[in-house]
Amino acid sequence: MAPARARLLACLSALTLIASASSPVAAGERITDNLEILWGQTQLLNGDETIALSLDRAMGAGFRSKTSYLFARIDIDIKLVPKNSAGTVTTVYLISEKQWKTHDEIDLEFLGNVTGQPYTLHTNIFANGVGGREVQFRLWFDPTEDFHTYSIVWSSDQILILVDGMAVRQFKNHWAAGVAFPVYQPMRFYGVLWDADDWATEGGRVKTDWSQAPFVAYFRNFRVQQGCASSGFSWACGQDPFGGDWFDGGVGVDDVKQQQQQLREARSKYMIYDYCTDSVRFPDGFPKECGLA
Ligand SMILES: *[C@@H]1O[C@H](CO)[C@@H](O)[C@H](O)[C@H]1NC(C)=O
Repeated sequence: MAPARARLLACLSALTLIASASSPVAAGERITDNLEILWGQTQLLNGDETIALSLDRAMGAGFRSKTSYLFARIDIDIKLVPKNSAGTVTTVYLISEKQWKTHDEIDLEFLGNVTGQPYTLHTNIFANGVGGREVQFRLWFDPTEDFHTYSIVWSSDQILILVDGMAVRQFKNHWAAGVAFPVYQPMRFYGVLWDADDWATEGGRVKTDWSQAPFVAYFRNFRVQQGCASSGFSWACGQDPFGGDWFDGGVGVDDVKQQQQQLREARSKYMIYDYCTDSVRFPDGFPKECGLA
């Protein structure tokens, strides 16, 4: 670890500079300072603090970050489509934008449901073009009544997904054991509301009720702490990306013990699907990372 620490220290001054340039969004700042509208029916509300995305039969809507990031912690507050949201999917994700075949991606997808039935938080992680790492949760609150904070922490050691500050999913860097991990491609942040009634709700049995359209989801308080300038590779800031230890300080991973406790609690109370235990899907053995601590 000593060499990694040394490299970390060598990079710290650069990180400090970047961190001070990307401090959390102050109240009243415009969400469009960091995000740009991509397509569809969108509205800026509350003095441009909030983006509303609409979905109707014709199309969904989306935004993305103006820049891409190489390691980052991203927090965003979302208020999901209320009442009968079956068939709709509200999603936020990070994705690399070069070769699709080798792309990296971190997904949070909120699968709508009929009135009174719970949303599903569907998560997935692609590394070097390989995904199929679905883990799903039930939220422990009504995500349509108010804004809640959803976070992606992407460091070179691990990916963490948090809900209102509680770690629900962890994907560790097991590169040394031969499992790909996103370490060299910058990723851009996207938020999209779309229709997926062919699969989203109860496996596609429940269809979107277009008489309820337009469906609207709200996003605000986008915050990003980025690890590295987006251009080029991680070693552009003096780091080799396989050294470990990089960018793990100051990104909400302050208390590892508490985080492990949160992950256990999320698994036991809120998780409803884990690809690593789906023996029907993997009759010949689970993906390698499933067996690694
Ligand atoms: C919708 O509600 C049903 C019934 O409670 C549940 O089985 C299902 O998992 C929920 N979510 C989705 C996305 O279908």
